Amino acid sequence: MLIGILVVLPIVQAFVGSQSADCPALTWKEVVADETGTLIYTLTDECAELFECPKGLYCAAGAYETNAGMNDAAEYFAEFWWPSFDGRCIVINGFVNGSYAYACECGYGMWCPLNTALPRFVPKEYYSRRPDTIKKCKEGHYCKEGSVFGIRCNALQNCPRGSSRPANSSGPLVAFVVLTFLTFIVFKIIESSREKSRTKADQEMHDYLDFVVAANNDDNEKKTTTQVVPIMNDEKKDGIRIEFHDIWYTLPNGITIMRGVSGTLEPGRVAAIMGASGAGKTTLMNLISGKVKKTGGSILVNGKETINLSNTISRVAFVPQEDIMHRHLTVLENITFSAQLRLPRTWPNEMKKSLIISTLVQLNLNKIEHSIIGDEYQRGISGGQRKRVNVALELVADPKILFLDEPTSGLDSVSATELVKLLRSITETNQLTVAAVIHSPGPSAFLTFHDFILLQTGGRPIYVGEMSKTEAYFASIGFKRPEDSIEPLADYVMICTSGKIEPDYEIATLRLNDEDTEWNHLTSFHILWHQFLGIPPPLNDDDTALKDTVRAQEKWLIYFKDIIFSWFVEYPNLLIKQFCPQNKSDPQRPTPNSFEIFLLCLKRAVKQQYVSFKSFFISTIVVFFIIGNAIASLSGGNLNVLGGYPPDICLKQYPQLRATCLDLQQNSYTNALQFSGFILIASAAAISASTFGKEQTIYWREAASNLNTPAYFFAKVFADIPICFLSALSVTAGFSTGFISPMPFPQLLAGYILYTIFGFLSGYFLSFLLPYSSVALAGVGWAVFWSLLMGGTTIVMSDNRESRWFWTLSLGRWVNEAFFYGTTVYPYEKVRQGPEKGQDLFDMNRRKQTLLFFLTYGEAAGYGALVCLIFLFINLFVITATKLDKKK
Ligand SMILES: Nc1ncnc2c1ncn2[C@@H]1O[C@H](COP(=O)(O)OP(=O)(O)OP(=O)(O)O)[C@@H](O)[C@H]1O
Ligand SMILES: [Mg+2]
Repeated sequence: MLIGILVVLPIVQAFVGSQSADCPALTWKEVVADETGTLIYTLTDECAELFECPKGLYCAAGAYETNAGMNDAAEYFAEFWWPSFDGRCIVINGFVNGSYAYACECGYGMWCPLNTALPRFVPKEYYSRRPDTIKKCKEGHYCKEGSVFGIRCNALQNCPRGSSRPANSSGPLVAFVVLTFLTFIVFKIIESSREKSRTKADQEMHDYLDFVVAANNDDNEKKTTTQVVPIMNDEKKDGIRIEFHDIWYTLPNGITIMRGVSGTLEPGRVAAIMGASGAGKTTLMNLISGKVKKTGGSILVNGKETINLSNTISRVAFVPQEDIMHRHLTVLENITFSAQLRLPRTWPNEMKKSLIISTLVQLNLNKIEHSIIGDEYQRGISGGQRKRVNVALELVADPKILFLDEPTSGLDSVSATELVKLLRSITETNQLTVAAVIHSPGPSAFLTFHDFILLQTGGRPIYVGEMSKTEAYFASIGFKRPEDSIEPLADYVMICTSGKIEPDYEIATLRLNDEDTEWNHLTSFHILWHQFLGIPPPLNDDDTALKDTVRAQEKWLIYFKDIIFSWFVEYPNLLIKQFCPQNKSDPQRPTPNSFEIFLLCLKRAVKQQYVSFKSFFISTIVVFFIIGNAIASLSGGNLNVLGGYPPDICLKQYPQLRATCLDLQQNSYTNALQFSGFILIASAAAISASTFGKEQTIYWREAASNLNTPAYFFAKVFADIPICFLSALSVTAGFSTGFISPMPFPQLLAGYILYTIFGFLSGYFLSFLLPYSSVALAGVGWAVFWSLLMGGTTIVMSDNRESRWFWTLSLGRWVNEAFFYGTTVYPYEKVRQGPEKGQDLFDMNRRKQTLLFFLTYGEAAGYGALVCLIFLFINLFVITATKLDKKK
């Protein structure tokens, strides 16, 4: 910059005519100062002959040669050279009569020895309490360029006399070791508490089994443990009867997939739902339970019409087709969580425990209660055992109504039969209402069901009624199973519906009315069923299409009705349910409140996050330490941490040079920090994406039952805090090992913590919106945007006024500003305070002069923290208010 000034100088001089040719204004000589070896700017020899510029002042304009007096000279200097004259400059007499010089105060942090023409910062390795002299930096201190005071080195740093930065420091390494040790201890504590709770669970299981054996001996009756039934309370005696009439469902694309199914689910009875793949079995259960909104028909619960079963009755449980559960937790941990979340808080703990244990025993899971579920990468329990855990997760909620979507698929026939028999026994004892979709059950499993619902493709009912009457009905429509058939009944009816055999009209008592109608397995069963019930024939496809066309004509009306219903009734209700899932319709069974759910989720999240010290140590501490160290080595040691000259000095420069003099964009330290911001945001986002991203389906499943979303969200965030904090600490330690930061360690750490928090929040945010697999990549783009583009130094906010708000929302911008303040502004800060506290020497007005930094470190970091806080609540809103239909 100053070299630039020297180049421009002769041009400017051409305009100045009234001064001595020997000593023109704004000229200087470059001299290497002996004691420091740095370049200083002194008066030219010609000027020095005419006058002497005192120490502590600088004289850029001098040698005014007229016969006028000193006042005229001052006026001239002020008018032509120093329009911003502020009283800190004086006119001094030269040696020759009529020669004057204009001498200005040098300012703290600057060094002005005798005959200074233009001030420079106090050179590094020196400090200057007063601008007229400099002193070698004291031992135990280090002095950067522009130091008014040396900075005291801490106990772990080595700072000999005359240091510009600590020679070395063992601090970061010590921090690293301490960090590792502390983490290790915490892991040990978590591990031992896990071990303790396992031993306790084992003991409880043992006691329970002993108790059962003793009870059985007393009865003198040979019972197996699997026949033990959960504890019951009296309320179980009265069951729930669900009637569904003429259920229709047409997809938004106009395809009808459910055509007038009617039936009843009775308390104390298990109904099997069967049909070819894609026939609409899952859809039927979703329609009955209210997960999917039917387009026609009605559902009555104990005689009363109901729109959404799950909203009306808190004890509806749904075992999904997929095994949705936490794969890295144990069987017991998964089941206990479900029980704690959904059982009434009025139940004593013992009662909850007994229910958990008896469910485990009944489903034969007691031997594997401490095994993790496992997934494709980590082997855990077997597929069949997982199916049983899936059922247990719902059974421990002590439901009244239970829907199961293929609970037996993947089980061998013996286990499948056992599970179905168990379901029957629980259903009968507890007066549950149960419906289960089932695929090719064994003969005895099939007959274990009380009722049977058989669907044909397109959602057409073939048979809805008692299981025991199935065979007779099929015989009556011409499908008599041969006596010697090797096919069990379940397989036989499936073969009939597949169209492989046609009805035997000889034996049929019920035939298609129109003799000429050819048998069509897709529609004829449906027609016969209507004939059997004595109701009008079902709409044929044309009529259904017509019905759909009519619907299409009314489409706009329906569309608007749907929108109004969704926006004003359904979504508000679902949203309220997410924030406050306590079911008011069942005051007898208050479920855990938000805080209890928060604690439950926190406990579980800690178990999920802190599994193995080794992987934690590598993925958090080592990786981030290396990242920090890499940033440090990329930054190098010779960064310009001073930026532009103080405005006070720049304002006294040639107008053409003021901008570059003030320009703080040249500060390479901010660029290095901006780069570290990018790496930190991207890598933290990649880590945190798994927090919610990996368990989204589980969260939906739980949110559909009783999970309070904000409680869950904050619990997960809380559990991540130590990881977030330790990552930031590791980065800072790694960075400080390779780079002696010109800012204090706490400030550096705070900045990195903010970056890491923002990175974690970004990972959450992206994982709510994108599939888990693409979050890491999206995180890189996201980090580029907020930290490199909107970080405030690459693209400058002043150039893009209309999109300024992006910068205001960007954490990168605030942290950069804070970093900048903590590093670059340091000399100014000290200078501004002056040797005596509160002494305002530079009179800077950064708000007007510079765009990048106008606040204090604390203020900028405070705004950064505010950005993080706002982002946290945006995250909370996004997780709560999106995908509401999945949480039904
Ligand atoms: N939301 C939807 N969008 C598009 N098609 C749908 C939707 N819901 C259901 N379907 C279609 O409706 C039919 C019935 O689906 P459903 O899942 O109920 O079958 P299923 O009988 O449970 O089959 P499976 O035995 O294979 O589980 C299928 O053809 C399916 O593709
Ligand atoms: Mg299905």
